[in-house]
This record gives sequence, structure tokens and C-alpha cells, in this order.
Amino acid sequence: MKILIVYDSLFGNTEKIAHAIKEGIGKKGIVVRKVKEVKPEHMKNIDLLIVGSPVHGGRPSQDTKKFLECISKASWKVHMRRHLIQGFRLKVRVHL
Ligand SMILES: Cc1cc2nc3c(=O)[nH]c(=O)nc-3n(C[C@H](O)[C@H](O)[C@H](O)COP(=O)(O)O)c2cc1C
Repeated sequence: MKILIVYDSLFGNTEKIAHAIKEGIGKKGIVVRKVKEVKPEHMKNIDLLIVGSPVHGGRPSQDTKKFLECISKASWKVHMRRHLIQGFRLKVRVHL
């Protein structure tokens, strides 16, 4: 199972949690990346996406918001392509 954990962090708290989640799951194939470093190719063929952000003014950080907007548009295209060609759905779960 390929899991991508994406986080944003100014002071290191959310970063620590992201790595703790990876250790807690304790399986191979889990990658932790800072949100600004995520590239489209990192999103390919993932089974589970976990997103963590510090709270800024009651909302996720700006970079996290941008990322979520980006994947909400992109994941639909990925889903449609897979659904039509391979007949299965890509499950993307977003946890804040
Ligand atoms: C600019 C700014 C705005 C914040 N706004 C909130 C907030 O609205 N609610 C809250 O509970 N914490 C808020 N915090 C606190 C951070 O969410 C909290 O310290 C968090 O653990 C920081 O995570 P990080 O170490 O990964 O950056 C804010 C922090 C900063 C720097």
C-alpha cells in the first residue's frame, strides 16, 4: 500500500506528528513530504493521502489550502481516467 503523508509546519509540531503517523502505521511504502515539496509525480498511484496542517486563523495554512484546492481539481481527472480505463476508483482521503 502506497501512502503519502503531506504536512505543513512553521515550528515543527505538525512535522513531528506527520513522522509519528508514519511510525505508527509502521509499514513500507509510506512517504512523508512537506506540502511545498510535493510534485504531481508524487501523487501518482497512491492508495491513501493524509494531509496535516497547523491552524492559522482557524484555517489550514495558505500552502495547505493551495494544495487541497489543487488536488480537488486534479483528483477528479485521475479518478475519471482510472475509472474509464482500468475500472477502479482512486480513493483519496483528506484528514485535517
Ligand atoms: C500566524 C499563526 C496563526 C495561528 N492561528 C491559530 C488558530 O487560529 N487557532 C489555533 O488553535 N492555533 C493557531 N496557531 C497556533 C498553531 O496552529 C500551533 O502553534 C501549531 O502547533 C503550529 O504548528 P507547527 O509547529 O507545525 O507550525 C497559529 C499560529 C500562527 C503562527
